Amino acid sequence: MLNELDLQISLERPTATFPRARMRRLRRTENLRVLVRETDLNIADLVYPLFIVHGNDVREEIPSMPDVYHLSLDQLQREIAELTRLNIKGVILFGLPARKDEVGSENFDERGIVQEAIRVCKRVNPEIVVMTDVCMCQYTSHGHCGIVRDGKISNDETLPYLARTAVSHAAAGADIVAPSAMMDGQVDALRRALDANGFDDVAILAYASKFASAFYGPFREAADSPPRFGDRRQYQMDSANAQEALREIALDLAEGADMVMVKPALAYLDIVRLARDTFHVPLATYNVSGEYAMVKAAARNGWIDERKVVLELLTSMKRAGANMILTYHAKQVAHWLGSEPPYTQ
Ligand code: PBG
Repeated sequence: MLNELDLQISLERPTATFPRARMRRLRRTENLRVLVRETDLNIADLVYPLFIVHGNDVREEIPSMPDVYHLSLDQLQREIAELTRLNIKGVILFGLPARKDEVGSENFDERGIVQEAIRVCKRVNPEIVVMTDVCMCQYTSHGHCGIVRDGKISNDETLPYLARTAVSHAAAGADIVAPSAMMDGQVDALRRALDANGFDDVAILAYASKFASAFYGPFREAADSPPRFGDRRQYQMDSANAQEALREIALDLAEGADMVMVKPALAYLDIVRLARDTFHVPLATYNVSGEYAMVKAAARNGWIDERKVVLELLTSMKRAGANMILTYHAKQVAHWLGSEPPYTQ
């Protein structure tokens, strides 16, 4: 029989607390930890970015991005064979043109560097998912992501150029085009142009919420794409804004995006989580060049354990809700996670 004191004590000590609940029980062994692990990082989640240049036998390391190279087409062939052996399912291509001009003509040239690179990828491995970045900054003499008119970036004049570029990528065999210029209406322009040219099967990955970020620094060196005047804050997002990011994503989906991206990743994991909870489409995040460079620099100084830090970071992106991660670490991760060679040339 309970007296009043016993009753009080049992109410003050709900059954689920210590010492009944011991969180450490399920952390005791590796197999137990694996059993209750909520997030898995797989090689199949990773997309590897590649920088393609003209010329022959070029394999030049990018100084601010150790282990990342400028590759000519012959080297790309070897690279795709290696990525295939490593079980990496997708690549995203960035091209450095032979010449830059006001409108970025090589961007939509059927013999342009990216168009040739797409064909090389598909020749080596028809199954590998080939994505292309659709933007103008690497190709234009002024380094902006759109057409410049009176010192400003003209949104509407840019759209046909982006659309034409996407169609040329599709014609060369791209599976997915990824508009990253942050022009309003760009997804709509691409979808219409692709459909009108018989490429209704080519998917669009929208760089939907792309922030004006200092973390793109090493990429701009690698792609030779810094703006020659001003910056990108007229078209890329203010890093302080989350609601606006959701609106950008909603608009791109309404325009016909198949998948959306949050970029950069690390300083924006809250946006990844918000996007995951709000929209029911495949969600990518871009672990950008500056994030990569920071890890590499610290690792090379012996200040951090590179393998553990990279796996922890990429896992955090998945835990935040990303389905796929564009990352320069992809090859290393493939080695670390161990992969079987399912494919031989
Ligand atoms: C093109 C583009 C950029 C990146 C991807 N596509 C640079 C920029 O917007 O300035 C950055 C990728 C990276 O930093 O790894 N607009």
